[in-house]
Amino acid sequence: MCGIIGFVGTTPAVPHLLSGLRKLEYRGYDSAGIAIASPTEPDIVIRKAVGKIANLDQAIASHPLEFEGPIGIGHTRWATHGIPSVQNAHPHLSQDGRFAVVHNGIIENFHDLRKQLRELGFEFRSETDTEVLAHLIQLHRADTLIDSVRAALRLVRGTFGIAVVSSCFPNQIVVARRGSPIVIGANETETIVASDVAPIIPYTNKVTFLDDGDIAVLTPGHFEIRSMENTSVSRSETAVDWDPGAAEKGGFEHFMLKEIFEQPEALENCFRGRLLEEDGTAKLSGLRLDPHDIASFDNLVITACGTSYYAGLHGSYAFEQLAGIPTRIEQAAEFRYRNPILSPNAGVIAISQSGETADTLAAVREAARKGATVLSICNIVGSTIAREAGRGIYLHAGPEIGVASTKAFLCQVAVLNMMALLFGRTRRLSNSEGVHIVHALKKLPDLIRSVLEQKDCIRKIAEKYAGCSNAFYIGRGYMYPAALEGALKLKEISYLHAEGYHAAELKHGPIALLDEKVPVVACAPLVPGHDKTIGNIQECRARKSPVIAIATEGDDSIAAFTEDIIRVPQCSELVAALPVVVAEQLLAYYIARFRGEPIDQPRNLAKSVTVE
Ligand code: AGP
Ligand code: GLU
Repeated sequence: MCGIIGFVGTTPAVPHLLSGLRKLEYRGYDSAGIAIASPTEPDIVIRKAVGKIANLDQAIASHPLEFEGPIGIGHTRWATHGIPSVQNAHPHLSQDGRFAVVHNGIIENFHDLRKQLRELGFEFRSETDTEVLAHLIQLHRADTLIDSVRAALRLVRGTFGIAVVSSCFPNQIVVARRGSPIVIGANETETIVASDVAPIIPYTNKVTFLDDGDIAVLTPGHFEIRSMENTSVSRSETAVDWDPGAAEKGGFEHFMLKEIFEQPEALENCFRGRLLEEDGTAKLSGLRLDPHDIASFDNLVITACGTSYYAGLHGSYAFEQLAGIPTRIEQAAEFRYRNPILSPNAGVIAISQSGETADTLAAVREAARKGATVLSICNIVGSTIAREAGRGIYLHAGPEIGVASTKAFLCQVAVLNMMALLFGRTRRLSNSEGVHIVHALKKLPDLIRSVLEQKDCIRKIAEKYAGCSNAFYIGRGYMYPAALEGALKLKEISYLHAEGYHAAELKHGPIALLDEKVPVVACAPLVPGHDKTIGNIQECRARKSPVIAIATEGDDSIAAFTEDIIRVPQCSELVAALPVVVAEQLLAYYIARFRGEPIDQPRNLAKSVTVE
């Protein structure tokens, strides 16, 4: 959710922290702050501001720091306890002003700790759960900063990724993790820590992810990881292949637009080396499953949240269609509380772009506890879900910064299709059927390019509907997840109320809401079920709803029943949802742009949802 950053080096920390915070801003952004320490100064200086990092820049410009230190921590906050305000923004200082803390997560027993600290004379300046940490570290001050932090953390229940600086222990930062990501990188003279890899890439492409229970001391160019029991810990380095420019806008007005346009390339990277044309199958070594393992699955359970859930819904259809394996999809937030039934031969597939979503991670742990084989589909290399699952497939979509997921969705669906192909070929698909699917997948990047070429037509349609307040998206078969995803995109970034429905379900209730002011986006390419969807479009028209059809090039019959048409290329049923979703992404993007919404950082949303 929030973003943590820390820098310890030999030059002033402020520019490093601010540029790192900008790269993290997408994670959560109701307020931000920094704390700077210096080996030669007895105090820690702090600046904070509500809103964007630009406001923090201003706060620093209008009240220049008392000194420039080479050690600092920073934070972008996504409030859980207490409103977004300067007082509640991190870093939080201990009562004596000698320890500053930034925190991502929730301290569950903060209420009791706060009461105990108050009885000892500590005064609280914020409403946050985090502030107890700063006072606890002061209270348990030991001979070293790491021992002081460790003693405080022993008293804490809940989740945290924290970074701490202290004027009593100059030249270092202590970080710790339980449940919220912490990534460290170092070059010869500088060490940088953050909640994800994006701010670290300008310094080094070798990153180290902390595990739960790790606590580390960072000094210029070095870091040492220890356990909560104070034993030495070694964590392997992960090489990240993003180029530093990948997290920049590259001439596009918004990250979301850039990421929409990157989709053909993202798919090419996702497919690279994985599609075996001659054998009509896919090679997915990260799954570490041999044909015997695949044959032994008697059912699959897919679990995820949000957009990743909709990709999973598509996947559940594909596994049943291609591999004949009964597959169900579960919302990750329900999974562990529902006590799901998992047979001994169940495979659980967890899908998460970030690999850090708290509900999906909890589902992974529950599935592992029940003995299922857990497979992950993640974008972020080395992320918690990818590591805990142990087996899985990376999307290779590159960094996705826009809060509204676009290229990750396409690559998730591509990966699920490849998995379904592999499982199908191990079970019941013939070579020629497999070859046909490989061809369909390989064509996808070019098909997506042709949808992107229609941006001007889509922008015109968006302008026409930008003023409405409600919309429906309908589809059936593989177009049903596409309808759900289209509606989610629109509501996330335009704040328009949009509902995705199975085309046949409208008449069971929501049709009551249709009238001339409520447009219906019909996902209606030429795939099985098309005739029935046309029938459902007629039902909408009969209630005077304007219909925007996403339809196959050359399907002229549809023009008679719709107000506006967005054309997508002819393709096979298994992949037909992807061009449709790209059209929906552009529609949502341009509607939000006409409405003047912030797009990359929609209100109330965070890129990585690390709380339950
Ligand atoms: C997508 O546009 C959303 N912002 C959101 O639904 C997202 O897909 C969800 O939070 C899951 O995230 P994950 O893939 O990183 O687990
Ligand atoms: N619970 C803390 C707060 O509300 C941290 C929230 C976050 O992760 O940004 O300040």
